[in-house]
Amino acid sequence: MSEYLLDLTKEFAGRRVLVTGGTRGIGAATAQRFIDGGAKVVVTARNTHAETPKSATFIAGDTRTLEGAQKVAREAIAALGGLDILINNAGAARLHLPASTAISDEEWVDSLNINFLAALRITYASLDELVKTKGSIVNVTAGGRIAFGGPMAHYGAAKAALNNWSESLAKEVAPKGVRVNIVSPGPIITPGGDEVRNTITQAMGITDAQFFATVPLEGRAGKAQDLAEAIVFLASQRASYITGDTLFVGGGWGTLAGI
Ligand SMILES: NC(=O)c1ccc[n+]([C@@H]2O[C@H](COP(=O)([O-])OP(=O)(O)OC[C@H]3O[C@@H](n4cnc5c(N)ncnc54)[C@H](OP(=O)(O)O)[C@@H]3O)[C@@H](O)[C@H]2O)c1
Repeated sequence: MSEYLLDLTKEFAGRRVLVTGGTRGIGAATAQRFIDGGAKVVVTARNTHAETPKSATFIAGDTRTLEGAQKVAREAIAALGGLDILINNAGAARLHLPASTAISDEEWVDSLNINFLAALRITYASLDELVKTKGSIVNVTAGGRIAFGGPMAHYGAAKAALNNWSESLAKEVAPKGVRVNIVSPGPIITPGGDEVRNTITQAMGITDAQFFATVPLEGRAGKAQDLAEAIVFLASQRASYITGDTLFVGGGWGTLAGI
């Protein structure tokens, strides 16, 4: 039987996984998917939420500072007894209407901290463990191949930094057997995604249906579980020869040109 044909309920048995921002939305669905595959999972965030997986170990922390990021990495590795898979998923988008000139310097720094530097700092605090296990990292970025508009320029720039750094890191750690990949979501129904979409639709005076009509694939929204499948695939042994790559999960949004 091919090594790729396997029992998905046991795929991650014995694997130790850290999912940042794993208490709701895409992170919670991803954490649950790893648990369903038999993994031991730590989720980190500032708070738990109703959808936080009950079988995950929660470690509280604000990862916008070096100390906060290093603390959650250290405590997660201690709780798990090592680390095989790191999912840098925590992120936050805020809109500043009408244009990027409305974004304060403080907000630029905040966006870089949560959307880029948190992943970088947690990764460097975990890298020795991941080298020991020839582990796997998946970083969650945003959008397709297009730039965000002015009101979200700080978010787009921070995610672009995360994309570029992820590729550098992939090259650097590949000789040690550590893989680094990127998942880039389109418009997904989550608490954070809903907040951003509501602000956009209200500002533009359009409905949700009109908003999602820009998605090539049936004009529909994505679910957190759609992202979880892509993330666990890239983290798994099924993707053992894939590194430095990006999987866009957005129904063609931001990746397929319109007609
Ligand atoms: N949903 C979409 O349409 C969409 C589209 C493109 C990209 N993405 C990206 O996908 C990822 C997940 O998004 P989502 O929609 O699932 O977001 P979400 O529903 O807002 O969940 C974000 C998670 O990150 C945690 N988090 C936020 N700020 C934090 C901080 N300072 N320190 C520690 N944890 C923090 C949140 O918990 P606490 O608030 O309790 O800390 C929560 O667990 C993000 O990186 C986002 O940028 C999402």
